[in-house]
Amino acid sequence: MFDLHGRVAVVTGASSGLGLQMAKGFAKQGADLAIMARRIEKLEKVAEDIRALGVRCLPIQCDVTDTNAVNKAADEVIKFYGKVDILVNNAGASKNAGVLDMTDEDWMFTLSADLTSVFKVTRAFAKHMVEKKYGRIINIASIYGQVGNTAMDTVAYHSSKGGVINFTRAVAAELAKYNITCNTISPGYFETELTADTLNTEAFTKFMEASVPLRRYGREGELNPAAIFLASDEASYITGQNIKVDGGYTSV
Ligand SMILES: NC(=O)c1ccc[n+]([C@@H]2O[C@H](COP(=O)([O-])OP(=O)(O)OC[C@H]3O[C@@H](n4cnc5c(N)ncnc54)[C@H](OP(=O)(O)O)[C@@H]3O)[C@@H](O)[C@H]2O)c1
Repeated sequence: MFDLHGRVAVVTGASSGLGLQMAKGFAKQGADLAIMARRIEKLEKVAEDIRALGVRCLPIQCDVTDTNAVNKAADEVIKFYGKVDILVNNAGASKNAGVLDMTDEDWMFTLSADLTSVFKVTRAFAKHMVEKKYGRIINIASIYGQVGNTAMDTVAYHSSKGGVINFTRAVAAELAKYNITCNTISPGYFETELTADTLNTEAFTKFMEASVPLRRYGREGELNPAAIFLASDEASYITGQNIKVDGGYTSV
């Protein structure tokens, strides 16, 4: 079960953190990879590590907020592999502030990086899935996409991730007729470049211990099983869903 040999997986934001981990997780299941991010030198290194696992890997420098760059990346993947089976919309970034202090610029930056990018990348790649009548789209949202929080003010991020969860449902309904599934994974707190500064403070650790039933942050690789499952043939009757990998945060 969960074998991905013969599949081509595209992962955005694979130069670090959860995207890098998921890309390696797919490679271990046998998938060929196309990995996207802006820092090409980091991507090249990740690509080398992935090839060492015995699969092909195409690194593509791409800003996922840039429509032309995204469309070019999709063309490049199709030219190289001839198809795309799995798409993980993982790239994300956030400028944090509360509703009273948020500037228009920071709001637009966050919406663009976390929500509009998911639309642009899905639009560019899904049309190739439609041609083949096969696809697995996985969007990375967040626990912050379904609840507010008292630990920090980050209204644009909450809004974007909530949007990703319902974008997923809309796409699932629209593309089901092409045998394409679309699901969300909502991670809880994982230590990565994006979060390390926040998570490693004493105050946040205390907050986490009081709010996460498993009383710890997610570990490296702990998002992979959900991603591999949703990307697999075995998940063929699951679409429009939102799997929370959060140590129980959203269950209390
Ligand atoms: N870590 C957590 O606790 C947590 C919790 C919930 C949700 N998430 C979500 O999980 C995803 C991955 O986050 P992470 O924690 O792994 O963060 P990370 O280590 O900072 O990784 C973010 C990735 O996104 C890429 N990226 C950012 N903006 C981009 C852009 N405009 N174009 C292309 N690539 C871009 C970055 O690459 P470049 O800088 O090279 O472009 C990097 O590879 C994000 O969507 C995040 O919101 C994380």
